[in-house]
Amino acid sequence: MKPADHLSLYAARRSRLAALMGEGVAVIATAPERLRNRDSHYPYRFDSYFYYLTGFLEPEAALVLVAGKSPKALLFCRNRDPEREIWDGFRYGPEAARERFGFDEAHPIDELDKLAPKMLEDQPALYYPVGAEADWDARVMRWLNVVRARARAGIAAPERLHDVRVLLDDMRLLKDAHELGVMRRAARIAAAAHRRAMQSARPGRMEYEIEAELLHEFRRNGAQFPAYSPIVAAGANACVLHYVSNDARLAQGDLLLIDAGCELDGYASDITRTFPVSGRFRAAQRAVYELVLAAQRAAIEKVKSGNAWNEPHDAAVRVLAQGMLDLKLISGSLDEVLEKETYKRFYMHRTGHWLGLDVHDAGEYKRAGNWRSLAPGMALTVEPGLYIRAADDVPERFRDIGVRIEDDVVVTPGGCEVITAEAPKLPEDIEALMRDARAGA
Ligand code: GLY
Ligand code: MN
Ligand code: MN
Repeated sequence: MKPADHLSLYAARRSRLAALMGEGVAVIATAPERLRNRDSHYPYRFDSYFYYLTGFLEPEAALVLVAGKSPKALLFCRNRDPEREIWDGFRYGPEAARERFGFDEAHPIDELDKLAPKMLEDQPALYYPVGAEADWDARVMRWLNVVRARARAGIAAPERLHDVRVLLDDMRLLKDAHELGVMRRAARIAAAAHRRAMQSARPGRMEYEIEAELLHEFRRNGAQFPAYSPIVAAGANACVLHYVSNDARLAQGDLLLIDAGCELDGYASDITRTFPVSGRFRAAQRAVYELVLAAQRAAIEKVKSGNAWNEPHDAAVRVLAQGMLDLKLISGSLDEVLEKETYKRFYMHRTGHWLGLDVHDAGEYKRAGNWRSLAPGMALTVEPGLYIRAADDVPERFRDIGVRIEDDVVVTPGGCEVITAEAPKLPEDIEALMRDARAGA
């Protein structure tokens, strides 16, 4: 990743945030490093908001943004340290970071507690991610108290405390051209990984062997991480929505549900495909699969500028509910099923979520009680499914079938762009890919 390639982009985002604030000071820190066990850390991942505004990848850093008549962006980061750099690698240090990342000022992070109270003097408002990190909450309160203690010197502390995420979430919801470029690449890598999984699945292999194929394809294409723990779920495991143990053997008659996406330069992709381990759908599997596919098609048709957030979901639910009636999984009239939500026994989650720096990305779904309208530049998933756990009242041929089909889409002026289209989803395309792989083509 080349963090500083799009400097003006980050500076423009900071200016926009300052303009939205009007006045006051914002403090946004990056994520802490976290221990996994004893002295081993989890792989480091920056904070999405901090990264969105800076492009800066190092831990132990914070952005201070002063809004108002003379706006200013300050970075606090680690000092250079020849000894630590031998062990852990390069760090910019404030001076080089200021220049390379285009800040007005940069200071050692060790000076933040000393300088922050001064920057808050006589400022009307403080914006920061309230409640996100207990340590930062305590730290920010200490700064405020330092300023308050100077009241008799005629110095005023900020009167208003805002959650800066309210402003940033709205900004992050509309992706710019650079973000969409990265997201398209993340989507293509994930699609290639799903193709690889389809090509390598065989009866007798383990779910984790297929997971390894996915991770291999992510990494060899430059994606830094999986965007979330991959779900590789054979047979009845597909009916466990967050199945992640991935340690069962694939059997001949199973469907394999794979929900996996990568994170590329901070941006997530999120794809689910479901296919037969044998390479051929059985009739009952195909009936369920075609139903989910039809629901997804209906939902994608509703992803267009001006439509409300819930329209794709409602369209998918209507198709799925009618299909459940047709397959005799449930009974009653369509209106009853929708009204009483009896379809939820087999379809219990929502049809999508915002997608971006976080796999379940920032952004409100409702505003003032109403579902938000879709607008060009919004990115979301469309992921209906059907999960038929075995039970006495379920027709035998459908028992333990779980299917989900998930694509990533970007709202365009006339409809939407499916950015994960390179992962096959028509049954005949999946079967052809698997057949060719087995024939060694
Ligand atoms: N893989 C997480 C999701 O589909 O929402
Ligand atoms: Mn997913
Ligand atoms: Mn998803």
